[in-house]
Amino acid sequence: MKIAVVFDTIHPEWTDADYKREMAGGVAEEAEYDVGSALLKNGHEVLMVGVRDDLRPLVDQLAAFQPELVFNGCESFRGNAQHEYAVAAVLEMHGWRHTGSPPTGLLVARNKSMSKKILAFHGIRVPDFTVLHAGAEFVRPSALRFPLIVKPLLEDASVGISQASVVEDDAGLAERARFIHEQFHQPAIAEELVEGRELYVGLVGNAELEMLPIVELDFGKLPKAERRIATYKMKWDEEYRERHRIRSDFARRLPDDVQGKIRQVCETAFHALSLQDYARLDLRLAHDDEVYVLEVNPNPFLAYEHELADAAEKAGMKYPAFIERIVKEALARYARPD
Ligand SMILES: Nc1ncnc2c1ncn2[C@@H]1O[C@H](COP(=O)(O)OP(=O)(O)O)[C@@H](O)[C@H]1O
Ligand SMILES: [Mg+2]
Repeated sequence: MKIAVVFDTIHPEWTDADYKREMAGGVAEEAEYDVGSALLKNGHEVLMVGVRDDLRPLVDQLAAFQPELVFNGCESFRGNAQHEYAVAAVLEMHGWRHTGSPPTGLLVARNKSMSKKILAFHGIRVPDFTVLHAGAEFVRPSALRFPLIVKPLLEDASVGISQASVVEDDAGLAERARFIHEQFHQPAIAEELVEGRELYVGLVGNAELEMLPIVELDFGKLPKAERRIATYKMKWDEEYRERHRIRSDFARRLPDDVQGKIRQVCETAFHALSLQDYARLDLRLAHDDEVYVLEVNPNPFLAYEHELADAAEKAGMKYPAFIERIVKEALARYARPD
C-alpha cells in the first residue's frame, strides 16, 4: 500500500530520499523514522514528508504520490504545537485518509481545560482547576485547594513543568502563572494536585478498544522534599532519571476491579474526546483507588522502545505489527459506512 508518513521537521528542505538515508543510518532517534522503517518492513511503499512552515510542499507531495493512507505523526506547524490539529484538518480538507485522531480530537485534547470539562460531563474524575489569563484580574475560586500544580494550558510532553510548578499559596500561584504567560505566551491552568500512583494507559482501536498493559512511572529514589510529578527533566533527561532511579515499568499489584475501572474510564474518555485509532492516557490512581484522568494524548510518542511501543510489545505486537495495527484500524474506519 502507498503510505505517506507526515511529521513536523527541523529540516524543511529535506526530501524523502534525505529522510530515508537518515533512517538507514539508524542513528537519529525520531518516532517518524521508526514508523517509516516499520512500514517499509511491512512491505508498503513509503513517502516521508516533513512539514515545517509551509503547507504547499505537503499538499504538492501528497498530490504527486497519491497515497492510499497518510500516517499522521505531525505534532506542530511553524514550531507551534497549537497548530497540530490544523495539519490533520488540511489532510481531511484534501480528502486524504489518515491515521490517528481527527482535528476536533487533537484540538480538544490539547486544551487542558476544555478536555477536562468534557470528561467531567461524562462522569470522569478530573482534578478541580481554574484557568489564569495574562493581564486579567484573577480571584482564585475558594473551593480550589492548595497545593496546586500550574501548567501551560496548551502544551504537552511536560513542557513548562518542573518542581516549581507546585505552589502552596496565592503568591506562589500568581508568580508561576506569570512565568507561564511570559515563557509560553498562553494561559496557565492551575489544578489541584492529585497524589497517588502515576499510570499511563495505551489504547488501540475504535468501536472496540484494546487496552495495552498499564505502565507506571516509578519515582525511584527521588529526594523526599521533591514532588512526585513527571517534570520535563524526569521525562527527558536520561542522566537525571538514572541518578534518581526513575523508571517506567509495567504496573504491578493492580487489582482486577481497579484495572476494570481504569479500562472503563479510559474507553469513555477516548470516545468522549472523539479520538481515533490509538491514544495514551495519563492517570493518577489516588490513595482511595479513585481513577483521575490528568490528560489524554491523541498523538502520543510512537518511537520504538518507548512506553507505548513497549506496552504494545507486551501485548504481543512487535513494533512493525503495532504500526501495522494502527494502519489496519484506520483503514477499517474508512471502510465502514458512516
Ligand atoms: N493535577 C495533577 N495532579 C498530580 N500530578 C499532576 C497533575 N497535573 C500534572 N501532574 C504531573 O505532571 C505531569 C505532566 O502533566 P500533564 O498534564 O500530563 O501535562 P503534559 O501534557 O505536559 O504531559 C503528569 O504526568 C503528572 O506527573
Ligand atoms: Mg502528560
